[in-house]
Amino acid sequence: MKRIVILISGRGSNMQAIVRRCAEQQWPAQVVAVIANRPDAQGLDFARSHGIAAAVVDHRAQPSREAFDAQLAQVVDRFAPDLLLLAGFMRILGPDFVRRYQGRMLNIHPSLLPAFPGLHTHRRALQAGCKLVGATVHFVTPELDHGPIVMQSAVPVLAGDDEHTLADRVLATEHVIYPLAVRWYVEGRLQQHDGLVRQLDGASQVLM
Ligand code: GRF
Repeated sequence: MKRIVILISGRGSNMQAIVRRCAEQQWPAQVVAVIANRPDAQGLDFARSHGIAAAVVDHRAQPSREAFDAQLAQVVDRFAPDLLLLAGFMRILGPDFVRRYQGRMLNIHPSLLPAFPGLHTHRRALQAGCKLVGATVHFVTPELDHGPIVMQSAVPVLAGDDEHTLADRVLATEHVIYPLAVRWYVEGRLQQHDGLVRQLDGASQVLM
């Protein structure tokens, strides 16, 4: 049984999709903890009501980024994760933290990386006149929103879209590709080589 710990900052809809899919599809894994950097993160209630340990490491209570990272690592390690997932986790993690979990830490980012790392991805994609946008699941490396790509989804930009309609369309695909990528990981069906990620069964790593 692989132990999964999920870090969130807010709503946690990706976390919920992973918890649900893990149970429905009987992955050889269990979400053992959900940890938020904000005490008011709504996703914590979902975790508690599903019998999953919920913890808070409040970044505002820490004197520095390094102190926050160290405290977070301490709490994460209590749950001995095989896989650490960032799911709408809105804090930048320092290189020491990332190296500690490198190779067993995934993130989902709402853009077709390497386009639009960072914040406000949908607004920036609209401003750039993109016709296609999407989301990316990738291994986390010290460089923000970089790292070997596991899976991507793509959706069209439609006439009249604003950043909210676009975010909703992309989010629906995030709830498909993130659980799938996590399932592949816990089933040992991903291989990394030279910064590239291969799905060992030859399954498509694209959702269109
Ligand atoms: C998602 O769009 C995710 O890609 C981004 O922040 C959003 C979080 O949504 N990093 P949720 O908390 O999973 O509902």
